[in-house]
Amino acid sequence: MSPLRVTRTLPEDATDAALRADVQAGLTATPKTLPPKWFYDARGSELFERITELPEYYPTRAEREILVDRAAEIAAATHARTLVELGSGSSEKTRHLIDALADLHMYVPVDVSESALTQAGQALIEDRPGLAVHALIADFTARLALPETPGPRLVAFLGGTVGNLLPAERAAFLASVRRLLAPGDALLLGTDLVKDTDVLVRAYDDAAGVTAEFNKNVLAVVNRELGADFDPGAFDHVALWDAGREWIEMRLRSRTAQTVKVPALGLAVDFAAGEDLRTEVSAKFRKEGVAAELAAADLHLTHWWTDAQGRFALSLSTVR
Ligand code: SAH
Ligand code: TRP
Repeated sequence: MSPLRVTRTLPEDATDAALRADVQAGLTATPKTLPPKWFYDARGSELFERITELPEYYPTRAEREILVDRAAEIAAATHARTLVELGSGSSEKTRHLIDALADLHMYVPVDVSESALTQAGQALIEDRPGLAVHALIADFTARLALPETPGPRLVAFLGGTVGNLLPAERAAFLASVRRLLAPGDALLLGTDLVKDTDVLVRAYDDAAGVTAEFNKNVLAVVNRELGADFDPGAFDHVALWDAGREWIEMRLRSRTAQTVKVPALGLAVDFAAGEDLRTEVSAKFRKEGVAAELAAADLHLTHWWTDAQGRFALSLSTVR
C-alpha cells in the first residue's frame, strides 16, 4: 500500500492572513458577508456530512444516483489516468467513479479542510491499495498548482459546490480550471437544478436544524481563530430563494442590536436588530446556463446527465 501523500500549497500563516482579510472586508461591508470556505474546519466538515444524510438534502443522493448510473460512460468517454477532485470533502460519492475508471493511476483530492482530506485519503488507500493518492490542502479559488500526473486528466467538481461561487468568481474559476486541462482532458461538473421553491428552501433549512448549526459554525471559526465574541445563539439561520438570481441565500440574522468584537483585527462590529450577515449563496442552474458558462471558459459540453427526477445534473465538458 503506498502511503498517503499530503501537500499543503498554502502555508498556515497565509490561511490565517486570508481569514483576517476576508473577515475584515466582509464585516465592514454593507450588507455584511463572510465567504463560505471558512465553514469547513473539522466540525464544519462533520456537520456537512450530516447535511448530506438529511431527508431534505436531496443533492447528494441525486448526484450519487447519476454517478452510479453513468460511471461506466464517464470512464469510456475520458479514459482518465488522473482524477483531480476539487472540494472533495469525504470523497464518498467519488468512489463510484474511482471504481469505474479502469486506467486510473492517481487520485488528487483538493480541499481546504485538512481533516476531511486526511480522513478520506487514508480510508481510500486502505480500500484501494493500487491507487496513488496525493491530497492537496489548497484553496481552489486561488491559482492551483497540480503535481505532475499522467494524462488524460479528469477534473471533478461535485456536490453543486460551483454554485457557492458568485457569478464573477465562477467565471474566473472555470477559466482557471480550463488552464489545468490539455486536449483530451475533461471536466466533470455537478450542478443543482432550478426546481420548486419549497423543495429548495427545505434543503437549506432542515427540520432537525443541522444546516442552522452548520451555518453558525462560521461564527465559531471566527471566534476561535480571531478571538471574536460572536454568540451563535444571538443569530437565527435564514435560507431564502432569490428568484431573480436563481440562488439560495444563507444568512445569519441578528436577533437583537449587538456589538461583536474581533480583537485580532481591532474591530467592533455593530449589528442592528434583524440585520443579516450573508454567509453563502447556492446557485441553481439550467442546462443552457451551464453550457454557456462553460463555453465562455472554452469548455465544451459533451454529456449532460440528470437523476430520474431531474433534480441535479452532472455534465462532462472537454477542451477542443
Ligand atoms: N464534494 C463533496 C463535498 C461538498 S461540500 C460532496 O459533494 O459531498 C464543499 C467542499 O468544498 C468541502 O469539503 C469544503 O471544505 C470544500 N471547499 C469549500 N471552499 C473551498 C475552497 N475555496 N477551496 C478548496 N476547498 C473548498
Ligand atoms: N455545496 C453545498 C450546497 O450548496 C454546500 C451546502 C449545503 C451549504 N448546505 C449548506 C452551505 C448550508 C452553507 C449552508 O448545496
